Amino acid sequence: MSQQPQAKFRSDYQSPEFTISDIDLVFDLDDTKTFVSATSKVQQLKQSTDLLLEGEGMILVSVKVNDVDHSDYTQSDTQLTLHNVSGDFTLTIVTELNPQENTALEGLYKSGDGFCTQCEAEGFRRITYYMDRPDVLARFTTKVIADKEAYPHLLSNGNRINHGDLEGGKHFVHWQDPFPKPAYLFALVAGNFDVLTDTYKTKSGRDVSLEIYVDQGNLDRTPHAMTSLINSMKWDEDRFDLEYDLDIYMIVAVDFFNMGAMENKGLNVFNSKFVLAKQETATDTDYLGIEAVIGHEYFHNWTGNRVTCRDWFQLSLKEGLTVFRDQEFSSDLGSRSVNRINNVRTMRGPQFAEDASPMAHPIRPEKVIEMNNFYTLTVYEKGSEVIRMMHTLLGEVNFQKGMKLYFERHDGTAATCEDFVLAMENASGVDLTQFRRWYSQSGTPVLSVISEYHQDTQEYTLTVKQNTPATEDQADKLPLHIPLDIELYAQDGSAIELRCNNKEVNNVLNITEEKQTFVFQQVSEKPVVSLLREFSAPVKLDYAYTDAELIFLMVNAKNDFARWDAGQMLLANYIRANIGHVQNNEALVLPEAVVDAFRGVLLNTDLEHAYIAEMFVLPSHNEITGWFDTVDVDAIDQALGFIKQTLATELKDEFSATYHSLKQSSYSVDHDAIGKRALRNCALMYLAKTPVGEQLVKAQYDSADNMTDTMAAMVSANAAELSIRETLMNDFSEKWSHDGLVMDKWFILQGSNPSVAALSTIKATMSHQAFSLKNPNRTRSLIGSFAANNAVNFHAKSGEGYAFLGEVLLELNESNPQVASRLIDPLLKFKKYDHDRQDLMKAQLQRLADLDNLAKDLFEKVNKALA
Ligand code: TRP
Ligand code: ZN
Repeated sequence: MSQQPQAKFRSDYQSPEFTISDIDLVFDLDDTKTFVSATSKVQQLKQSTDLLLEGEGMILVSVKVNDVDHSDYTQSDTQLTLHNVSGDFTLTIVTELNPQENTALEGLYKSGDGFCTQCEAEGFRRITYYMDRPDVLARFTTKVIADKEAYPHLLSNGNRINHGDLEGGKHFVHWQDPFPKPAYLFALVAGNFDVLTDTYKTKSGRDVSLEIYVDQGNLDRTPHAMTSLINSMKWDEDRFDLEYDLDIYMIVAVDFFNMGAMENKGLNVFNSKFVLAKQETATDTDYLGIEAVIGHEYFHNWTGNRVTCRDWFQLSLKEGLTVFRDQEFSSDLGSRSVNRINNVRTMRGPQFAEDASPMAHPIRPEKVIEMNNFYTLTVYEKGSEVIRMMHTLLGEVNFQKGMKLYFERHDGTAATCEDFVLAMENASGVDLTQFRRWYSQSGTPVLSVISEYHQDTQEYTLTVKQNTPATEDQADKLPLHIPLDIELYAQDGSAIELRCNNKEVNNVLNITEEKQTFVFQQVSEKPVVSLLREFSAPVKLDYAYTDAELIFLMVNAKNDFARWDAGQMLLANYIRANIGHVQNNEALVLPEAVVDAFRGVLLNTDLEHAYIAEMFVLPSHNEITGWFDTVDVDAIDQALGFIKQTLATELKDEFSATYHSLKQSSYSVDHDAIGKRALRNCALMYLAKTPVGEQLVKAQYDSADNMTDTMAAMVSANAAELSIRETLMNDFSEKWSHDGLVMDKWFILQGSNPSVAALSTIKATMSHQAFSLKNPNRTRSLIGSFAANNAVNFHAKSGEGYAFLGEVLLELNESNPQVASRLIDPLLKFKKYDHDRQDLMKAQLQRLADLDNLAKDLFEKVNKALA
């Protein structure tokens, strides 16, 4: 490192010295020599006569102030400081960029044959020198000039105000965005696309044209994205009373993209993975993912764009809130319980793991070196849980009043998390003073609960203790305000009214102290308690449930989530126990009563199909890792394998009946059809582990008319290590080599192959014609799935898994640090493993630390981990 990257602190925030009210951009696009002319109206706000502009990785061609050459400036690798500028003035800067060489996919780059931009968080500074901070909001106009034949579509934010032909076969389009915005919401796209168009009439009667741009030939994969967009627009009107505000809404799908999608004003840019879907190429999970991401980006128009973030430490202001909104959208349109289950899995697996890692941070971080490193599960998913807790504490009506007040106060401005909480507090009258600690405290709280029943007094007592273990970023923790949703059940399954101090009380208990006791009166029999219903707070629950109580709750709990959670806790008890048995060379066990409880679920015709399938998904390897200080990878694998095998063997007749009864005569993607496929394919996963597995999996693969069923066959063959696996893999790759997006599914199977010989195959797969380390989707599919979802092989004692990842990271450090920085996460968690593995993992981190060109993204993580 020539220069050590510097951290920024939330506490150092200063409002800007200058601001920019308007910016006119002109792009003359060229693969290797693009010229950008940026004319800004600048206003001085404070004393300073030095204007600091950020800029990186481009050539500065000229600087003019009020149309006169201005040479009074100093320049560094990352900044341009203009001296002796004051009052109101016009600044014109010309820069030269090389989009072709931009493999980091930040700023202006080429995706396939087209041009596109990605400016969040700090990419605009790779386009021109600018006040690249979210609290500088300007009105943008953008003129895009390019070759007409190669780039018939020239897009940018807002409305198209002019277009025409130019000499030399070029043409131009001029765009104007009437809404002031920070630079991170700027976007430009140029290319030759197929377009799906539609219109939407808003509830106040305005017509909006909807346009989805995709690579030529992909039009037949766009209808689901359009339907999802229209559903999003309608839902936001119905549930949040929010209407779209421009006359046009564009979505462009690109193949080269670092994340899921980006909410640029009026011009969303999407990873093609979250747009393109048809029966033959996309699974039901893909369909639901598209609906969620289309919704997410659309909802940002209000929560992100109309009200944006004052500084990047406030990222959860828009992301936590927008994730909450997209989760509610998916839940209102589909199955609420299945959505909740999957969101909770993400919290308990990857998010809790992040809290336990060197990257632990509060949802509003205090210290950042590279902002791209903070688009995390904590900011997004835990951020959403924090919004959800406020929703639980306030109720829907007060929550919506809070939203309304938030927009009244902050529309058109850059706000803070505090502004949001204050609006919620003021609108509802609910005191959120202590609740605010969720924004500043990192880590996963543990709620330990003890119950006592007194027959003589008819009292039931719950003693609740909270404790948040120290995290790597923060040693001292304070008690949080934790909403704890509970219910008490009598033996006949009826709910017992909750009474404290002679009053009926709400199901949501307010936990605010380190230790609290709740005495429930008039409890005439010893109840079974259902705790942390709906996962009412992002905490770990510690309560000594008996098997009998959990089995009781699996049947009797009133709410779906609680029944699922009881099933998970029951499985957890036997996963833990069997890990111990593996370690002590004892026989593994799964009692008859547990198997019968799951049999009951499978045979229960009152339950949604998709929900039953969720009941049979065991906690992931990653989630289990979080239960231990030091993990035994192989013991976890054996314990999980044993439980799956036992359920498969014991329930094979029921699974078989389920499998055959759920065959559908024709394909559709409504929620009922999706649910049937989910349960049928869940049955297949288990049946693959029985003697009929080979034959059943092959038959399904051969007869499938949709990608969900095809993939279910392949995933089953992969997980059960069936001999048919290779045949299916070869067939699939021959069929789909031309289609990278479809091949990603195949790369994931290679990466997560449990076979002991997997690594050598994975290495060979890197030279597959459809693979490229330059493409983030391909890289994440093969390498990401290996590092994050192939525990046994990644953590092989030899260290070859770690060395392989290290090798890939060395390369990505230069070509795409943002992708590298996501792939490195499993290596950061070395403290969870035995000493030999720790040393091997650290050696790979050290190898990166020793580089003299280590990117900021990796620098931040490697240094935290090795500190
Ligand atoms: N704001 C985007 C979202 O949540 C995500 C995003 C942030 C992003 N940084 C990015 C996308 C960089 C692509 C590249 O939807
Ligand atoms: Zn977002």
